[in-house]
Amino acid sequence: MIDSEEVLLPQAGREEPELDRQLRPRRLAEFVGQGQIKDQLEILMGAARMRAEPVEHLLLCGPPGLGKTTLANIVAAEMGVSLRVTSGPAIEFQGALASLLTSLADGDVLFIDEVHRLQRSVEESLYPAMEEFAFDFVSGKGAGAQTMRLALQRFTVVGATTREGMLSAPLRDRFGATFRLEFYRPDELRTIVARSARLLEVEIDEHSLDLISARSRGTPRVANRLLRRVRDFSQVKGDGRVTVALALDALSLLEVDELGLGSSDRRLLGLICQQFGGGPVGLSTLGAALSEEPHTLEEVVEPYLIQLGMLKRTPRGRVATAGAYRHLGLEIPAEMAAVDLGAVEDLFDGGS
Ligand SMILES: Nc1ncnc2c1ncn2[C@@H]1O[C@H](COP(=O)(O)OP(=O)(O)O)[C@@H](O)[C@H]1O
Ligand SMILES: [Mg+2]
Repeated sequence: MIDSEEVLLPQAGREEPELDRQLRPRRLAEFVGQGQIKDQLEILMGAARMRAEPVEHLLLCGPPGLGKTTLANIVAAEMGVSLRVTSGPAIEFQGALASLLTSLADGDVLFIDEVHRLQRSVEESLYPAMEEFAFDFVSGKGAGAQTMRLALQRFTVVGATTREGMLSAPLRDRFGATFRLEFYRPDELRTIVARSARLLEVEIDEHSLDLISARSRGTPRVANRLLRRVRDFSQVKGDGRVTVALALDALSLLEVDELGLGSSDRRLLGLICQQFGGGPVGLSTLGAALSEEPHTLEEVVEPYLIQLGMLKRTPRGRVATAGAYRHLGLEIPAEMAAVDLGAVEDLFDGGS
């Protein structure tokens, strides 16, 4: 059963990793949007090239599907070096880190996905590796134990995280630059979908491009998945060409609404509005009620709802806004409506 959860929740490549790979831009010039990040990367890479040094260690933060893995690949490609891919939980002990690091050639990029999930001991051995390109290990046991230092090639760590707040301060400090990826604007997503349609050889009209871009939760991975689903639908129900009528039918079958929200989003908002009087509700309570991992809600579902202004995180829990009630077609509670009106009156007062 294909539903909106599967298509809209942009978790890292559990499903369709080949689609991600196939559509991944290879060069910085092909990477759409995130202008500030691109400008800064260009300077960092240019400077590194002139000094014949590896690029500084980079930390990429942001919700899934916004292009962190893509950027790591691009840095390696632009610098003409190899990319080694690993992840925080995959490096189980210090020895595993040592063998990864010693396998790198001069200037290579080591991409560590989910870098907030490194084990403590592994993380601590990474510090001297990042700072001084050295790996310290203890040889022997007890009184005769000696610390030995192994020199490494110079390399670049590109770390990616969906939860910047979970990174320890010492690790964070060792990155030369931190980039926070943002949700994409509809016009940027449109460029991405148009490019993907070309690569996948999908015939699609202008309005369908707009439609898909507007409903992709600001997320390129979601945009690409929706394109593929809409294409499948158009093949079965039409002649393969994507038209607005077919795209609308496909999206409604997937339960993707006008704002790009799917069933998980609506269930979350509906729960807060209807069962908890608008909140505040604790994250773990919501997780239990929805049978979802709290961290999935936090990293995958909530960021876009917050961006839309339908959900707020407060110290006492999650709160639904008037916008959430409006979107769900629910009556806005009187207190909330009063606050809304207050804000409008303030606006008029301020202007007079
Ligand atoms: N800026 C972009 N321009 C074009 N395509 C993008 C861009 N960012 C992401 N994508 C597409 O979205 C997919 C998911 O990106 P990815 O880098 O895997 O995200 P993340 O690692 O942040 O979860 C990629 O396969 C790529 O096709
Ligand atoms: Mg990734």
